[in-house]
Amino acid sequence: MARRRQLYEGKAKILFEGPEPGTLVQYFKDDASSANGTKTGVITGKGVLNNRISEYLMSRLGEIGIPTHFVRRLNMREQLIREVEIIPLEVVVRNVAAGSLSTRLGIAEGTRLPRSIIEYHFKNDALNNPLVSEEHITCFGWANTADLDDMVALTLRINDFLAGLFLGVGITLVDFKLEFGRLWENDEMRIILADEISPDNCRLWDSKTQEKMDKDRFRRDLGKVEEGYQEVARRLGILPEAGMRDLKGPETMQ
Ligand code: TMP
Repeated sequence: MARRRQLYEGKAKILFEGPEPGTLVQYFKDDASSANGTKTGVITGKGVLNNRISEYLMSRLGEIGIPTHFVRRLNMREQLIREVEIIPLEVVVRNVAAGSLSTRLGIAEGTRLPRSIIEYHFKNDALNNPLVSEEHITCFGWANTADLDDMVALTLRINDFLAGLFLGVGITLVDFKLEFGRLWENDEMRIILADEISPDNCRLWDSKTQEKMDKDRFRRDLGKVEEGYQEVARRLGILPEAGMRDLKGPETMQ
């Protein structure tokens, strides 16, 4: 097989040139990092599970008319996606207080919020992805007000759908992070959902016991990190076909 050109390597994923123009291959690694890269580690099988979980969630969102970059899963660790111009924002949705909201504002973790909150963080690791307002976003040209309207409308639909989907399998969707990109087609621009949706960028708690099943198990040294990710996939009914024995999965063909 011909070597593919690597375009970008992030903390948890690698992007390769796709088989045809306008496509990319997104490869999911087992590498994990937190505290903005100051803590690193490997969660065995995470890449395989996140590839499968993100495929499942993006496909379900596609079925209700949310435009996404997901095209199809290629193998255990890779999926074909549409190439977009990433908007440099992390759009965070919160249904229950946790993480930086709790530390910043002193609201006890686990407090159900009276309504869902959308926050924007500027996507910049060197600056620690700082919280920004619409004023910053429009002033510095990261997105305009029409782009923000589109992102908010999509984000609220995604939150409603995913919160219901997870609740149906006994999981509370506490908060999560989305990224959006611009897709150009015949001089027309559309904003579509990009990146991934997985336990790396969602807080997912067991609805009855509040047990954490997401990356906080790694961030906070709670142990049983792989098991948390596996349990999310198991409840969604999508554990990899090869079973748990093969979670390391094949290496990428380059
Ligand atoms: P936070 O409480 O640390 O601000 O995170 C809120 C949610 O968004 C949590 O599920 C993790 C996710 N998130 C990311 O995945 N990447 C980010 O850069 C940020 C700011 C949040």
